[in-house]
Amino acid sequence: MRSLSIWLALSLSAIVCAVPAKDCAHKLKETVPPPRGWTKLRPAPADHTIELRIALPQPNFSVLEKHLYEVSDPFHERYGEHLSKEEVEALVAPHDESIHLVNEWLASHGIYEDDLSRSPAKDWVMVKVPVSLAEEMLKTEYHIWSHDASGNAIVRTTSYSIPEHLDEHIELVQPTTMFSRMKSLKSTVRFSDVEISSLAVNADQPPISVPSASGGKVDASCNETITITCIQQLYNAVGFTPSAKNGNQIGITGYLEQFANIADLQEFYADQRPDALNSTFKTILINGGLNNQTLSEAGAEADLDTQFAFGLTFPTPGTFFSTGGSPPFKPDVLTPDNSNEPYTEWLNFILKQENPPQTISTSYADDEQTVPVSFAKRVCEGFAQLGARGVSLMFSSGDGGVGDGDPDPATQECFTNDGRNVTRFVPLFPLPAHCEYGPKANQYIDLKLLHSVTGVGGTIHVPETAVFFSGGGFSDVVIPSSPYQNSAVSTFLDQLPAGTYEGLFNPNGRAIPDVSAQADLFKIFLSGEAILIGGTSAAAPTFSGIVSLLNSARLSQGLPPLGFLNPLIYAIHAATPSAFNDITVGNNPGCGTPGFNATKGWDPVTGVGTPNFGKLKDILTAL
Ligand SMILES: *[C@@H]1O[C@H](CO)[C@@H](O)[C@H](O)[C@H]1NC(C)=O
Ligand SMILES: *[C@@H]1O[C@H](CO)[C@@H](O)[C@H](O)[C@H]1NC(C)=O
Ligand SMILES: *[C@@H]1O[C@H](CO)[C@@H](O)[C@H](O)[C@H]1NC(C)=O
Ligand SMILES: *[C@@H]1O[C@H](CO)[C@@H](O)[C@H](O)[C@H]1NC(C)=O
Ligand SMILES: *[C@@H]1O[C@H](CO)[C@@H](O)[C@H](O)[C@H]1NC(C)=O
Ligand SMILES: *[C@@H]1O[C@H](CO)[C@@H](O)[C@H](O)[C@H]1NC(C)=O
Repeated sequence: MRSLSIWLALSLSAIVCAVPAKDCAHKLKETVPPPRGWTKLRPAPADHTIELRIALPQPNFSVLEKHLYEVSDPFHERYGEHLSKEEVEALVAPHDESIHLVNEWLASHGIYEDDLSRSPAKDWVMVKVPVSLAEEMLKTEYHIWSHDASGNAIVRTTSYSIPEHLDEHIELVQPTTMFSRMKSLKSTVRFSDVEISSLAVNADQPPISVPSASGGKVDASCNETITITCIQQLYNAVGFTPSAKNGNQIGITGYLEQFANIADLQEFYADQRPDALNSTFKTILINGGLNNQTLSEAGAEADLDTQFAFGLTFPTPGTFFSTGGSPPFKPDVLTPDNSNEPYTEWLNFILKQENPPQTISTSYADDEQTVPVSFAKRVCEGFAQLGARGVSLMFSSGDGGVGDGDPDPATQECFTNDGRNVTRFVPLFPLPAHCEYGPKANQYIDLKLLHSVTGVGGTIHVPETAVFFSGGGFSDVVIPSSPYQNSAVSTFLDQLPAGTYEGLFNPNGRAIPDVSAQADLFKIFLSGEAILIGGTSAAAPTFSGIVSLLNSARLSQGLPPLGFLNPLIYAIHAATPSAFNDITVGNNPGCGTPGFNATKGWDPVTGVGTPNFGKLKDILTAL
C-alpha cells in the first residue's frame, strides 16, 4: 500500500504541471563548484551539437544488486547462477510513467521517437541537439572550458535544471557537469627507465627460488625483464592450455585513439609465444573508434594490453574494443560535435551484446573527484549489470601511489575539488573504488553500496615487492567499505599507528586495490621495436589473463564463469591465504607522503597480493 500511495503521489505531482512540459517550473538538478584547473572561456556556440544522454531511474535496481551479490558470493546457494541479458534489462527498466513523462517533455521541445535512440532497457535516452536547444531544455548556459595544463577544451556547464515534475523521472543528464578529462583518459602506462640494450645477459644465472612459483623457480632474467614465460612461472600457470572452443573469451578496452597493432603482436609472439604466431584478435570499433594499422600509429597502451592478455590466454578468442569519443577539442574550432564521455559509450555497447567476453581489462582512469557522483553511480550500475551477467571487470589502480603528484596548488594535484583547497589523497575513477556512494563535498547520495569491478595494483621484481607507483587508498565518494572487504581492510587499519594520515583519506571508504600483479619492465613490441614498459596498465591485463585461464578451466568443466570477483577473492584469501602471494615489502608514495606500506595480509598498495593460478584453479574447479 505504501508504495502505491507514493506512486499515486508522484502521478499527482506530475499532473500538477499541464502541457506543454517545457513551460513547467524548473528545479535545479545538479550544481558543481567551478572545477579546479579549468578556465571558463566563453559561451559555447549556439549551433555546436551535443548528444544529450538522459538517464531514467531504475526503480528495481536494488533487486538487481541483490542478485549480483547472491550469484557472486561463493557461500550462497545461487553462486554462479548469473542472470541473462533479458533478465538484467527487465531489472533496470524505468517505470512506464518515467518514459511517458520524459517523452512528453522531449516532444514539447520538438523531439520525437525518430530523433532519439534508447538503450535496450530504455533506461537511457540519447538525442543530438544544438547547444541552444540544450540550454533551453535544461535552463542553463553552456560554456567552452579550457583545461589549464593541456589547453584542451570541452563544452560544459556547472549546473542545470529540469522541469520540477520530472525530478523523480530523470536521474541525470550529461554532458553537463562532467569535467573529467578521461583525458589521455589517463592511460596508466609508463615507459621504463631501463633500456633493453642495457640489460645484462644472464642466461647462465641460476633461477630465482620462489616457493609459490611453478616448480618453485623463476628464470633469473625475470628480475629484469617480464615476459609471458615469467608470468606463467611466477603465477604457477606453466603447462595449462586453455580451450579455444569452450565459449571462453577475453576482452581489452581501448580509448583515446589507441590502436592495437597486429604486426607488433606477431613480433611479440615470435619472441615470446611462438605457438601463437599468425593468430590474431578481433577489433570492434565503437562510437567512431579508430583502428589505424599503420605501424607508426600503434598505441603503447593498446599494444601492451593486447600482447600480454592475449599472449597469456592463447588460444582463447580475444577482442579489442576501440572506443572513440571525448576528443579533446581546440576551443578555436567552432563545431566539434562529439564531446561524449567514452565510458558510457562503451558500456552502452557492451550491455547490448548477447555474449560479451567473460573477462574484460581496462587500463584507463581519471581522478575520482573530477567525476560527478551522479555519473559515477550510473557508470557503476552499468558495471553491476555486467557482473550480474557473469562478466569479470578488471581496472588498473593507477600510477600515482596514494595520489598523483605533490600537494601543489600550481599543479592542482592532491587537492580537494570542492573549493576548500584541502590536501587530500586522490584515488582514481572508475576504480572499484567508486561504486558506492556517500558524502562528497557538499553532496550526499543515500544509495546502497555497490561496486562490481576489481582493482589491480602493481608489483616489481622477483621475489615480488610493491612497485612504488601502485595506486591505492580509500575512496572519498564511496562509503562505507564493502562488506566483503571489511575484515581484510580493518585488519590493515588496526595495525596503522593512530593518527596516520589523519584527514588525508577516508578510512571508511571502499579500499583499493583488491589484488595486484607485475607492473614494470614488461617486454613488448611497439612500432616494430622491442621496449620495456610498465604501469598498473601492465598489471590489469596480466591479472585478467590469469582470470581468463580460470574461467576457461571452469567452462571446460561445465561450470559457470566467475563473474564479479571481489566477494570470491576476499573469501578465498580468508580461507586459503596461499592462493595469493602476499606482498609485504614496498610502499606507494604520493601527495608529499611516503604513502601506505605493503603489509602482511591486505594492504592499500597490493591488495591481497598476486595470484597463484594453480591453487586458484584447484579451488575454483571444485566450487
Ligand atoms: C519491479 O519489481 C516489481 C516487483 O517484483 C514488479 O512488480 C515491477 O513490475 C517491477 N518494475 C519494473 C519497472 O520492472
Ligand atoms: C632483483 O632485482 C632487485 C632490484 O635490482 C634486487 O634488489 C634483487 O636482489 C634482485 N633479486 C634477485 C633474486 O637477484
Ligand atoms: C605463420 O605463417 C607463416 C607464413 O604463412 C608460415 O610460414 C608459418 O609456418 C606460420 N606459423 C605458424 C606457427 O603457424
Ligand atoms: C593512419 O594514419 C596515418 C597518419 O595520420 C594516415 O596517413 C593513414 O592514412 C592512416 N591509415 C588509415 C588506414 O586510416
Ligand atoms: C583555492 O585555490 C585557488 C587556486 O589556487 C584560489 O584561486 C582560491 O582562492 C583558493 N580558495 C581558497 C578557499 O583558498
Ligand atoms: C611504513 O613502515 C615504516 C618502516 O617500518 C614506518 O616507519 C612507517 O610509519 C610506516 N608507514 C605507514 C603509513 O604505516
